[in-house]
Amino acid sequence: MSDQRKSLSEFDALVLGSYKDGTLTDTATNEIPESIRTSIQEQLRFSGLKGKLGEIRMFYGLGGNDENIPKKIAVVSLGINKDFEQSRVPEALEITRKAVAVGIRSLRELDVKHVGVDVMFHEHGAAEGATLGLYRFDSLKSIKSHKAPPKISPIGSTSTNTDGNLCWNTGLIYAEAQNHARKLAETPANYMTPTNFANTVKSFLEDLSKVEVFIHDKEWATKHNMGSFLSVSRGSDEPLKFLEICYNGGEKGQRPLAFVGKGVTFDSGGISIKPSAKMAEMKGDMGGAAAVASAIYGIAKLRLPINVVVSVPLCENMPSGHATKPGDVVKAMNGKSIEVDNTDAEGRLILADALYYTSSTHKPHSLIDVATLTGAMVVALGEIYSGVFTNSNKLWEQLLEAGKNANDPFWRMPLDDKYNEDIKKSIVADLVNVGQKGLGGSCVAAIFLKEFVCGLTDDSDVSEKENSSERLFDVDADDDKKIRYAHIDIAGSMITYRDSGYNVKGMTGRPTRSLIEFARLIAKNPDFV
Ligand code: BES
Ligand code: MG
Ligand code: ZN
Repeated sequence: MSDQRKSLSEFDALVLGSYKDGTLTDTATNEIPESIRTSIQEQLRFSGLKGKLGEIRMFYGLGGNDENIPKKIAVVSLGINKDFEQSRVPEALEITRKAVAVGIRSLRELDVKHVGVDVMFHEHGAAEGATLGLYRFDSLKSIKSHKAPPKISPIGSTSTNTDGNLCWNTGLIYAEAQNHARKLAETPANYMTPTNFANTVKSFLEDLSKVEVFIHDKEWATKHNMGSFLSVSRGSDEPLKFLEICYNGGEKGQRPLAFVGKGVTFDSGGISIKPSAKMAEMKGDMGGAAAVASAIYGIAKLRLPINVVVSVPLCENMPSGHATKPGDVVKAMNGKSIEVDNTDAEGRLILADALYYTSSTHKPHSLIDVATLTGAMVVALGEIYSGVFTNSNKLWEQLLEAGKNANDPFWRMPLDDKYNEDIKKSIVADLVNVGQKGLGGSCVAAIFLKEFVCGLTDDSDVSEKENSSERLFDVDADDDKKIRYAHIDIAGSMITYRDSGYNVKGMTGRPTRSLIEFARLIAKNPDFV
């Protein structure tokens, strides 16, 4: 007991959790001297605590002159009774994330330096809640609106495991990764150019072992016949980049997991220009790129024993005398010609080449692209869920589980060849980049992308051959030569207007934690793939 009290003296503040009835969590009970605990619990009862999740009470100088007792203690209600079953992992994680974030945000305003964080129901969640809750984007403000973030350390932590299970350290890594993504996406487009994006990612990956970063340029894209990607970048004065990252944590030759991210660092719409309202949000049109680059950072930092590749096409979509015009026809890397009916449907054009390049070069077992792709997705799901389009039930179930654990959830949408109809009706080209009826925009975009995944099926015309009803989206493309493919549309979840707990208003950096969690599940259960 005396040892534990000594460690409390390192902190000038604590975040503790309490049950509905005002008793402290078991983890706090083990760490806090009994006299202090008794007075906290007594006062909590007098304070009119309703016991709702996130309700907070502050205590100051409870230990008098005792240097071993931190002067500021935030107690946050967990909103549940003592009999809560902590083995319900997603709930245990989420309650802890929320409570810790509320506590740490209040303490920060009191200028604290080092906070001891009660790990409550799950130390991974506690580390996430603290690290995500402390994130602020104020590097461009001359007068900072928030105090410097305090250092955080766990109290009541039991495990230091490295066996692929979740612990305090994994929580720090997941949250740091998401904070990288938030920052990449929030940074204004005049700073976050394709060049700066590539360099920033390269520098945060620098100290990690088994990671290789390649920053390709226009010449490289030209050599690879990426006419579709090139056509989007033409209107801009900023040079395009194609970022390719390999993490070799698995055995040599083992098929990788691949992520592709949409990296449009600003989307004006091009010649099909957008209205000015909310156009500023299009600095975040590289949210998919930010999430996948940050996910590989987390995966490498966790040293997961798998191979992962990330491909990110980066450019601006701008109008100019060099820009692609509506009606132009471009040729993608896989040879398909595309009529660009609307230059604002640029995401699918850059992803077309990135998907084909990644699937044909790396032959991944699973290929997942993440993209702020369609306004229709915002209408359909708002900011709560990211939409997942996949023809693999198994891949869907794994993403669903990862999303639940991370509380960064997914909702399944149809990847159905029937949406092909109106993108195959061009008089001049194989495909047209927008649906001609204007309906089901997110589903049309998804089926367009599928045209560019090499090895998903036996490459012949899918819609012709597989019209039979059992070949719809309950079919798994799971045998060993095939690629499991999922497209994740994050147009709604890229940004949040909510600002409480670990939700910080602005670019969300989602679904970074879900992607890392998905990779961890795959690494833990090799027969998942
Ligand atoms: N980047 C946008 C999609 C978007 C909209 C993301 C709102 C986040 C919030 C994308 O490039 C786009 O402009 N899509 C068009 C496609 C349309 C022209 C078929 C859209 O959804 O309006
Ligand atoms: Mg657009
Ligand atoms: Zn876009």
